[in-house]
Amino acid sequence: MNTLTSSFDDEQHKIILSEDGSYTAYSKEYDEHYHSLKDGALNESLSKHVIAAFKFIQKSDEINILDICFGLGFNTLATLYYVKQNNIKAKINIYSPELDTTLIESLRNFTYPKEFEEFKEITIALANNKVYKNESWHVSIYLGNAREYIKEFSHAKFDIIYQDAFSPSSNPILWTKEYFKDLANIIKKDGIITTYSVALKTRLALYENGFNVYLYSAKGIRDSTIASFSELYDIKKVDMLHKISCNKDVKALSDDEVSY
Ligand SMILES: C[S@@+](CC[C@H](N)C(=O)[O-])C[C@H]1O[C@@H](n2cnc3c(N)ncnc32)[C@H](O)[C@@H]1O
Repeated sequence: MNTLTSSFDDEQHKIILSEDGSYTAYSKEYDEHYHSLKDGALNESLSKHVIAAFKFIQKSDEINILDICFGLGFNTLATLYYVKQNNIKAKINIYSPELDTTLIESLRNFTYPKEFEEFKEITIALANNKVYKNESWHVSIYLGNAREYIKEFSHAKFDIIYQDAFSPSSNPILWTKEYFKDLANIIKKDGIITTYSVALKTRLALYENGFNVYLYSAKGIRDSTIASFSELYDIKKVDMLHKISCNKDVKALSDDEVSY
């Protein structure tokens, strides 16, 4: 057994080194890795989610983020890392659902990259209390189903949503058009959704809920998707009408075909 991770929840998970040198996990239940091994856990989180979102959001005194789902917490920790590195003074509120209580409680024993070392007290507070607060940051984890959780928020609350569930094939309930309809209700008009998925089914579910769909490309990492109700500039907009006309049989996932 790897001594680095001996107290981590290794019944359900296996720790794996990803290509950027950061550790991620493999889920036995979902038969999937938490991050792309090729892109690297830290690199994927920072590049496809945090940098991608902060590049396009409007300046504001307070930024509300929905992190779907907490998992190992890379997107939340990478956000705090980015905010600190870039001296961003806005108040940051992060809300994150997660079904796996055992995972959250064992995160104090996970081996995070050195970039997250300064956040050790945050991971411990989250593992113990599911909440961390200081004068600028508020992070809270909801132990339960994301589908229920997202219905609790008010209209147009979020500036950023990190859509980072397991893949549509292994966790379809977090990719249906009804699910994205609920996200459409709670995101601001100029809010940004980031996701690693470039699948047409995912993009259709976004498009059918009124989002513009964009192809996000960054150096050294595979392409991903950004969605917003707003027109974004300096990014390639996906021509959805053309994609649909070339792929007439493709349909967005719907709640009728999946169970939750
Ligand atoms: C790909 S991982 C998230 C990775 C995470 N963003 C990170 O940086 O480590 C997906 C997570 O979704 C959780 N999950 C699956 N279905 C869920 C649901 N319906 N509600 C809440 N969490 C769910 C899984 O337990 C898993 O931890």
